[in-house]
Amino acid sequence: MSGYRQFFGLQNEPFTTDIKRKDILVTAALKGVEERLHYALRIGGIAVVTGEIGSGKSTALRYVIGGLHPSEHRIIYVTASSGSILELYRQILGELGVGISSSSRALMTQRIKQEIAEMVQGKKMKAALVIDEASLLRLEVFAELHTMTQFEQDSKPFLPIVLAGQSNLVDNLRYRNCLPLASRVVAKTHLQGSDQKTMEEYLRHHLAIAGVKRMLFDEAAVTAIHQGSGGLFRKANHLARGALLGAARSESQAVTAEHVRLAATELILTDGRVL
Ligand SMILES: Nc1ncnc2c1ncn2[C@@H]1O[C@H](COP(=O)(O)OP(=O)(O)O)[C@@H](O)[C@H]1O
Ligand SMILES: [Mg+2]
Repeated sequence: MSGYRQFFGLQNEPFTTDIKRKDILVTAALKGVEERLHYALRIGGIAVVTGEIGSGKSTALRYVIGGLHPSEHRIIYVTASSGSILELYRQILGELGVGISSSSRALMTQRIKQEIAEMVQGKKMKAALVIDEASLLRLEVFAELHTMTQFEQDSKPFLPIVLAGQSNLVDNLRYRNCLPLASRVVAKTHLQGSDQKTMEEYLRHHLAIAGVKRMLFDEAAVTAIHQGSGGLFRKANHLARGALLGAARSESQAVTAEHVRLAATELILTDGRVL
């Protein structure tokens, strides 16, 4: 066990990225995302979740999807790249477990639609497509997505879609050839940096996950983490862990604002905040 973990009696590495679903802190913002996603899934619409890097978008998706019953729902989850539509089609086919050697766009779309129709009509599953990092998608991909997720024979003619990404995702959807898809958006949430109270709760929560019930950060340290991170959880993780390390190094049982400031100097600054 590393020095600082022993010093503070931390059973696990604290503030990690790979927390279990049951350890996700259910914030008001997360509840808001859940409600909107359920709504879009129910009516066959599109939900958009935006937020800065590290604001908790992927975690929110994981929380909501993990709460859906697997015997009822079939979620096709892909993380977008800046690649072509073919790349996205390949990812979707991969998720569906369909091997296809052809790289014909028409064939791939057809296979995907067929597979989804079989799931929805044949197996009576509720299917949905979730695309994380959708702000990276090229504009022409949005136009194609509309066609791919349209099912004329069905009573609910569209496959529900969840798009998550940074704020430019919404700007991109305003482009002319994205409008058919944009017109299906029924719910939109923006994950802001958390407020100070939620940040305090967040820090306590992650300490508890790591096995420590005592609040190791003093009030000024919480403020420093909140301000330094702009309320964004990933940045807060880096600051909190760095500050814990610093405090242990100076054998201080309380983590202070000074430890947070020192930790911040080890991180790369972007727009005055830490990365
Ligand atoms: N609700 C939450 N509960 C606990 N930890 C969270 C929560 N949301 C975010 N985090 C922490 O912040 C990190 C970054 O969140 P993430 O969902 O990856 O952000 P984004 O996808 O917006 O870049 C996660 O790895 C996790 O450690
Ligand atoms: Mg993410």
